[in-house]
Amino acid sequence: MSSTLRLSQRAEWAEGQPISDLMSRALAEPELISLAAGFVDQRTLPVEPTREALTSLFARESSAREALQYGTTPGFPPLRELLLSRLLDSDACCHELSIDQVVITAGSNQLLHLVSESLLDPGDIVLCAAPTYLVFLGTLGNVGARSVGVAIDQYGMVPEALEHSLRQLSEQGELRRVKAIYLVPYFDNPCGITMPLERRARIVGIAKRWSDGHQIHVIADEAYRDLRYEGEDVPSTLTVDDEGDTVIVTGTFSKSFSPGIRVGWGILPRHLIAPVCSQKGNIDFGSPNFSQHLMAEILTRGLFQPHLTRIQQSYRQKLQTMLAALHLQFGSLPGVRWVRPAGGLYVWVQLPAAISAGPDSPLFDVAVREGVLYVPGEYCYPNMGEPVRPNTMRLSFGVQTPEKIVQGVAALARAVRQVCPCGISGAGPHDP
Ligand SMILES: Cc1ncc(COP(=O)(O)O)c(C=O)c1O
Repeated sequence: MSSTLRLSQRAEWAEGQPISDLMSRALAEPELISLAAGFVDQRTLPVEPTREALTSLFARESSAREALQYGTTPGFPPLRELLLSRLLDSDACCHELSIDQVVITAGSNQLLHLVSESLLDPGDIVLCAAPTYLVFLGTLGNVGARSVGVAIDQYGMVPEALEHSLRQLSEQGELRRVKAIYLVPYFDNPCGITMPLERRARIVGIAKRWSDGHQIHVIADEAYRDLRYEGEDVPSTLTVDDEGDTVIVTGTFSKSFSPGIRVGWGILPRHLIAPVCSQKGNIDFGSPNFSQHLMAEILTRGLFQPHLTRIQQSYRQKLQTMLAALHLQFGSLPGVRWVRPAGGLYVWVQLPAAISAGPDSPLFDVAVREGVLYVPGEYCYPNMGEPVRPNTMRLSFGVQTPEKIVQGVAALARAVRQVCPCGISGAGPHDP
């Protein structure tokens, strides 16, 4: 007897991540130099600090047993306290934060997912920078929400462009469908841009002003805050939300410590604690408790900061290597531009407008033949609003050694030269 598979509407909406194919390709063809995936460096993962924390955690019978048991839905209280005091040490918040606003998740992606499930109905709208974090676009697709791209400049999402989009949506009778504005304010994935605090304040102000009887939240995905290689830290986006009712911050130890431990968190406005925890209670009633105890031990024993300092040094060198290689290889190639980030894991490259870097483009094929993989920039554009720029690509300097970065960028330059029409000028670092 044959039967027809009928998937749920959500399963139909879920298109899967285009980057998964790139990752499988990199694994299947190890000779390719992958500048694509935003993985952290295998060589600098914190084996010793983790072993030390594990030994100390398991030296106490009671804490070992506690770590091996289920935990609670919002997470291990001492870890939530530690996160809160870390935040309060670095930022003077204008409103009071309490531990119940801190929810621990299995990576910050889970928090983004829970927030999406809690706020968005099918057809609702989230305004995102164009380009933005491609996995979050998938999360929005999953819940049937629409992503609308807003123009950026060298400081990230442009407030005037955001107002323009809101005005247009209002004129189309869609304002009430706008539920959130999504930002990656530190060393943006994919653009590497850090948004100054004044601009974050303007965007939060706009969200409040356009919250017309319904609330528009600002989701500040602060995943890369710790990965700064130069310049001064910028206070969290939470600090510009005077009433504490608009900004949702997400954070993670995946980039700054270990994605294998996969501990992320959210700092939520009070009114979102119950909805998010109810969603979470129905999904997993608590993220892996073992990882949370381990992370708490790592922080309490002072093992986090020295590791962070070590990886900052290593990534700083890799970033400098990539920027120098881009200058060497593309400096004389007309029309190629790139952003110079102060942290994170990515460099955003823009090619002459006539060259597509898309997954089906001649350039992508030639680049693979030359031995290098990159993320086509078009994956990072929301499906409405600002137009897609197919002449863009995201390069990650996290995984490869400096030598491989040099070789990868050289291979990319050979590929671009093969497909590049002549006579376009203006190479060099740029503001997007
Ligand atoms: C901007 C951004 N947010 C969130 C994440 C999610 O990280 P995790 O779920 O491991 O915490 C990533 C991972 O690459 C990211 O780039």
